[in-house]
Amino acid sequence: MARTITLLMLCVAIGLTVTQNPGVKIRVTAKGVDYAKNVARASLVPLLNNIRLDDVEGRQGKTSYRLHNFRTSNVRIPNINMHLNPGQRGLTLSLRNFGIDIHLDYRVSYRVLFARLTNSGGVTVNFGQVDLTVTIGIDQFQDTSPKLVARSCSGDIGHFNIHFHGRLAWLLNLLRGLFRGQLHNSIRNKICEVVVNAVNNDAANKLRRMTLEADIGNNVGIDYRLLAPLLFTNNYLELHQKGTVFWKAARNDLLPVSPGAVPAWGDYSNMFYLWLTEYPLKSLAYIMHTRGRLQYSMTVNTLLEERRDFLSTSCDDSLCVGFLIPKLSEEFPNSVVALNITSRKIPDVNITTNGVGMTFYGTVDLSIPSAGSVLVANVTVSFRILANVRNDRIVGHVNSFSTIIESLHSVIGDVDLTVINNAIEEGLTSIIIPEMNAVADVGVKLPLINDLVFQRPSFIYLDGALIIGTDVQYQGIV
Ligand SMILES: *[C@@H]1O[C@H](CO)[C@@H](O)[C@H](O)[C@H]1NC(C)=O
Ligand SMILES: *[C@@H]1O[C@H](CO)[C@@H](O)[C@H](O)[C@H]1NC(C)=O
Ligand SMILES: *[C@@H]1O[C@H](CO)[C@@H](O)[C@H](O)[C@H]1NC(C)=O
Repeated sequence: MARTITLLMLCVAIGLTVTQNPGVKIRVTAKGVDYAKNVARASLVPLLNNIRLDDVEGRQGKTSYRLHNFRTSNVRIPNINMHLNPGQRGLTLSLRNFGIDIHLDYRVSYRVLFARLTNSGGVTVNFGQVDLTVTIGIDQFQDTSPKLVARSCSGDIGHFNIHFHGRLAWLLNLLRGLFRGQLHNSIRNKICEVVVNAVNNDAANKLRRMTLEADIGNNVGIDYRLLAPLLFTNNYLELHQKGTVFWKAARNDLLPVSPGAVPAWGDYSNMFYLWLTEYPLKSLAYIMHTRGRLQYSMTVNTLLEERRDFLSTSCDDSLCVGFLIPKLSEEFPNSVVALNITSRKIPDVNITTNGVGMTFYGTVDLSIPSAGSVLVANVTVSFRILANVRNDRIVGHVNSFSTIIESLHSVIGDVDLTVINNAIEEGLTSIIIPEMNAVADVGVKLPLINDLVFQRPSFIYLDGALIIGTDVQYQGIV
């Protein structure tokens, strides 16, 4: 009994850990699915125009026949439709009233009186009102990437006309009979085979190459793999992804950060929505801090030529620390300082309706080689960052910032905090923020399939997540 209860509790506990919130979420709406029909049409036309059928040989009464060199052309798909099918955990693709021509060569041999005659030539058969319904499921591979699979295909051929040059009425009847019977099914099956193959191979391979892991700089990565099976409704399908940031050399380390609830967004008027929650950013902040990556040493060697003067204690007209902090220039004239900035606490990150907020808790250490540290300040700097998308990457830039000096330790006597603050703000504006922007502008690859181009993306900042809402264009026909 106790054992059963323990097991039960264990199951509940496991159940709870499995239903983790996603860090990244993608919604493809009915509009997006509807757009995909154009991609399906463009992909299927060349495939359906290249169908080959096996030769058919047979005998009817005294006639033996061979139909060979089947080839298709002139596929017409006037009416294609693609919609969400939650019951099948996928999509339904239907082609209505489509037409296809089949050309083939025939050779018949038959007996007239005592002679055996042969006749051969070409035939064209126009098929019309062909209907086809394909159910396409989206499951997942063991490695938790999405897996496209054709679940069913059914078709119906409405009518056909046979054209051939010749006057053998009985041959026309023979062909009619074949196309109504045996050939009818093999053509329908062949069409399904081509479509199913396009789904299971061509399209599935494209989806399989979706970005499920991306680099953030050299040492850090983000895991975009699926956290749960896809969610289907009548209005959209959703991919719930991990969005976990990891240190590459220790990718299985558990982080003391977990994703919160994903803020709801009821709109599905665009084709595609991508939620980026605070979780990836919080994980990133944790990793960068604990791995000692939030340290910055500013020395003459790390600065651009035109900024070198910034670290001088004496300067004429250009901006330098000696100009910004006059006491420094009095005590240590004609010197060059070194500036070390270290993160003393895990940065706070949030996403609010104002944008992405990041607060760094830094210690700024200003030292002179001959004298060591002369000014040490604990500073809190808050940045507001706005996101953008460039190709398949999310990029950002610092939109504004503010600084607070928490405490100051000085060996050059009392220094006005406003003066220090000005010096820090000047250093941020002229040196650190441009460097941050350069990194943010490289950005991070989004979890997309190749050749997907955003059309007029908009950025929706909610409390807890940034949503990119956009229409898309697919430029890599399957
Ligand atoms: C500044 O940082 C560099 C590299 O991190 C280190 O070598 C140096 O000792 C630091 N200087 C001070 C004064 O903390
Ligand atoms: C969000 O972050 C910004 C910048 O770090 C900060 O100023 C703001 O107070 C934070 N807001 C909340 C609700 O935590
Ligand atoms: C800065 O903060 C750290 C703790 O976060 C503290 O140990 C240090 O003394 C502070 N420095 C100054 C100059 O107040």
